[in-house]
Amino acid sequence: MMDNKKSHIAIVPGSFDPITVGHIDILRRTAALYDKVYLALLVNPEKKYLFDTETRIEIAKLACSDIPNVEVVYSDGMLYSLARELGCSAIVKGIRNETDFAYEMKMALYNRELAPEIETLFLPCNEKNADISSTLVRSLISEGKEDEATKLLPRGAIDIIKKRGFGFK
Ligand code: PNS
Repeated sequence: MMDNKKSHIAIVPGSFDPITVGHIDILRRTAALYDKVYLALLVNPEKKYLFDTETRIEIAKLACSDIPNVEVVYSDGMLYSLARELGCSAIVKGIRNETDFAYEMKMALYNRELAPEIETLFLPCNEKNADISSTLVRSLISEGKEDEATKLLPRGAIDIIKKRGFGFK
């Protein structure tokens, strides 16, 4: 097994349905701390996604295109095994509030049980992003509030959403 403790590689996992400016802030801050960061699109079995995998990947790639040490990856497997396979020493998650903390704490304990050599690190969100979520963005899209949704998405994401036919009412 690779000695992940010595790596300077982190993984930022999530559903990213779609990726928001809040996620991107966490990603940029992680990229400033680590040599290499994987933005990992994974499957949360508790969620039914609005966007298909290809669209989520395309938007995520666009969001990371100006951060040279970030690579977007996709897996329908387990987070701990992907992190191990990629040689990551840390799983980084953004935390907005107590609800996030409670949920992420459970995930962290589960992942540590399975991969004790990989630490989960929590990054508190930027205050201005505390109320931003993919759920909010999806609601704005379904309500046809294009300008409001645009502000919460990476530049160019709206065009991909329209091109892929998820459009606005
Ligand atoms: O953005 P989300 O939906 O909160 O991200 C959750 C995600 C996708 C990171 C989580 O569901 C996950 O790690 N899925 C991969 C499968 C896995 O490892 N499940 C065990 C996690 S406790």
